[in-house]
Amino acid sequence: MSVRITAAKLMVLSALMAALLGVSASPAFAAGNAQAGEAQAMVCASCHGQDGASAIDPSYPQLAGQNERYLARQLKMFQSGERDVALMTAQLIGKSEQDLDDLAAYYASLPSKVAEATGTDADIELATRIYKGGIANKGVAACSSCHGPNGAGNAQAGFPRISGQSAQYTAAQLTAYREGERRSDEVFGGMMRGVSKGLSDREIVVLSDYISGLN
Ligand code: HEC
Ligand code: HEC
Repeated sequence: MSVRITAAKLMVLSALMAALLGVSASPAFAAGNAQAGEAQAMVCASCHGQDGASAIDPSYPQLAGQNERYLARQLKMFQSGERDVALMTAQLIGKSEQDLDDLAAYYASLPSKVAEATGTDADIELATRIYKGGIANKGVAACSSCHGPNGAGNAQAGFPRISGQSAQYTAAQLTAYREGERRSDEVFGGMMRGVSKGLSDREIVVLSDYISGLN
């Protein structure tokens, strides 16, 4: 018997897969319009770079290729002050929710860049071990379990891409979560505050360097 998969069967199959994976079960997430986002992004480019991946300061994050759901959430939290960064809040005054969704769609559509880790072999080895296996006796969960083996994140769940991110930015965020200063993970039950609690300064530095070159 020949196994012929017709177009109709394929459509049924992919609809089933989508339902199983919950793709169609997220009506609350209205996708933005990347073109409309691009039209607003001129001001953003002055700090995050024309391509969203070459910021004017090494401590500023890369936005290009970040998943849309994560970006939209962060923008809304900057606007409301839930993620309390005055510099970013000021950029979003007067923007509607649709504007923010459009900006998120635009940056999600751009290709991300990956740098090269600069740590020693021992640093990279330590970082790899934590990234892939966590630190059991300090309650640090493996980063790969949520951010993926290559740091691409989980677009469906809105877990951010972290690969290629500026090491300075990543280190600052991990420290801010650890100190309880960044609380934007509230909807996820404080996940990142929990994970980072057990990380030492040195572990944060080597992990951040490793992640900047991960792909
Ligand atoms: C004056 C410089 C500046 C401008 C202009 C600016 N940003 Fe930012 N942006 C920053 C800095 C600095 C951060 C890091 C904040 C922190 O420390 O958490 C940031 C963070 C972000 C983040 C969070 C990224 C992440 O990985 O969590 C997003 C999203 C973002 N900016 C989008 C935008 C958009 C969209 C615009 C234009 C409407 C914009 N920014 C304009 C400086 C700027
Ligand atoms: C249980 C799932 C989970 C695990 C494990 C996890 N993360 Fe996260 N991470 C998240 C979620 C969800 C967010 C977004 C939270 C928010 O909105 O503030 C996040 C955010 C981050 C951010 C901020 C990204 C940005 O652009 O601002 C960094 C950096 C990060 N994680 C690094 C790590 C590292 C390093 C590890 C391992 C030590 C790790 N994460 C383990 C789920 C996880």
